Amino acid sequence: MPATIVVGTQWGDEGKGKFTDLLAKEMAMVVRYQGGHNAGHTLVVGDETFALQLVPSGVLYDHTTPVIGNGVVVDPFVLLSEMKMLTDRGVDCSNLKVSGNAHLILPYHQQLDALHERHLGKNKLGTTKRGIGPAYADKSMRTGVRVQDMLDEGIFRAKIEAALSYHNKVLTKVFNRLPVDPDELADKVLSECLEGLRPHIADTINLIHGALESNEQVLFEGAQATFLDLDHGTYPFVTSSNPTAGGACPGAGVGPKHIDRIVGIAKAYVTRVGAGPFPTELFDDVGDAMVDIGREFGTNTGRRRRPGWFDAVMLRHAARLNSLTELAVTKLDVLDTFDEVKICVAYEIEGERVEELPYHQSSIHKATPIYETLPGWKTDLTQVTDRKDLPKEAIEYLNVVQDRTGVPISLVSTGPGRDQFIQFD
Ligand code: GDP
Ligand code: IMO
Ligand code: MG
Repeated sequence: MPATIVVGTQWGDEGKGKFTDLLAKEMAMVVRYQGGHNAGHTLVVGDETFALQLVPSGVLYDHTTPVIGNGVVVDPFVLLSEMKMLTDRGVDCSNLKVSGNAHLILPYHQQLDALHERHLGKNKLGTTKRGIGPAYADKSMRTGVRVQDMLDEGIFRAKIEAALSYHNKVLTKVFNRLPVDPDELADKVLSECLEGLRPHIADTINLIHGALESNEQVLFEGAQATFLDLDHGTYPFVTSSNPTAGGACPGAGVGPKHIDRIVGIAKAYVTRVGAGPFPTELFDDVGDAMVDIGREFGTNTGRRRRPGWFDAVMLRHAARLNSLTELAVTKLDVLDTFDEVKICVAYEIEGERVEELPYHQSSIHKATPIYETLPGWKTDLTQVTDRKDLPKEAIEYLNVVQDRTGVPISLVSTGPGRDQFIQFD
């Protein structure tokens, strides 16, 4: 029963969308298992660019069933507008399935996300303000509203009323805002979203297991990334779900035995959006060049991404946390013009050489990277599709990445396009 997970190994935007789309060619089903529309996954096919937030990146193929799993938080308005955008562009979304157990992001979650960020002031996390944290908090508090609740008007209204009986106190008494009227909100969601979503609401557990039991290939598409994981990331500068590969099990309803391939997606350098520690961060012209050449601006928030050199210490940790079976390295072409390229192989922390990611976050803040410096290849890689055409310096860079992370590289991406990749193994 073959199942594959695609997981981000850094702080997001590694190119998970591109490789999910690429691997989806062989898949019967592509399942999102966590996160929400804080994700921005970009697919480039010929002249067309698709920026997806909630719809799984397998949607472009007719033969794949895109599934939004129970672990995802779904803004029904965003999902419908994304489906409309795709349909208007000729992509068939009729096959899309949404778990009835997935929780809804409602407008008050977004309002609370923004207010909480403002409340944090200079300690703000830099969230996407999509309501992700408040929606997962409601899920944990058992005051969440699920997709399936929309199918029973009485239950839906009662749940919104119960959630707002608490949140309205927070909005009015803590933040001095107007209360949200539960009936008006329920009317709006039911009138604007229910008919559009109804045909897509499904028992996704049955669907996924049906596919696995028929020996069909299923791909689990992670959003965000290992170091944004609620448990394993640089807390509190993380998202509110478990993007790590293990998160696919509760987030889609499968046991770990089903998973036999775990593809870690790693940028050839590192970027991060929002606040939090970043040992290899660059504040110089080299970092600016990474941002300019790599177009490092958020897919859906437009924010500038913070750039830095590849960090093999983080990657070794990511390999352990995710049981990576292979690495797919993206955006190698962005380094094409660099005279030299660097890989962080260890940290120096208070005079000591440290090879493993420190468990104490204060140490990560104090870490100075120890680099291995390699010559650049000074060659345009964007047209290279065969390993034998890679310059020896680029091969050496990838070999050092494999060696220092301990994970074999299977695929290398040399441009945003679907055809711009190299089979490296
Ligand atoms: P995701 O969130 O992990 O799916 O990544 P994003 O889509 O947010 O960001 C990756 C960006 O890099 C997108 O604009 C992609 O089109 C682009 N991209 C992906 N792979 C490559 C590559 O190998 N080279 C270049 N230059 N761009 C790439
Ligand atoms: P993809 O799937 C990069 C970051 C935010 C913020 C933190 C918490 O495209 O890789 P949240 O809104 O989730 O509560 O924000 O997480 N973040 C991402 N950064 N890529 C993403 O998704 C992200 N999703 C959330 O910038 O620092
Ligand atoms: Mg992204």
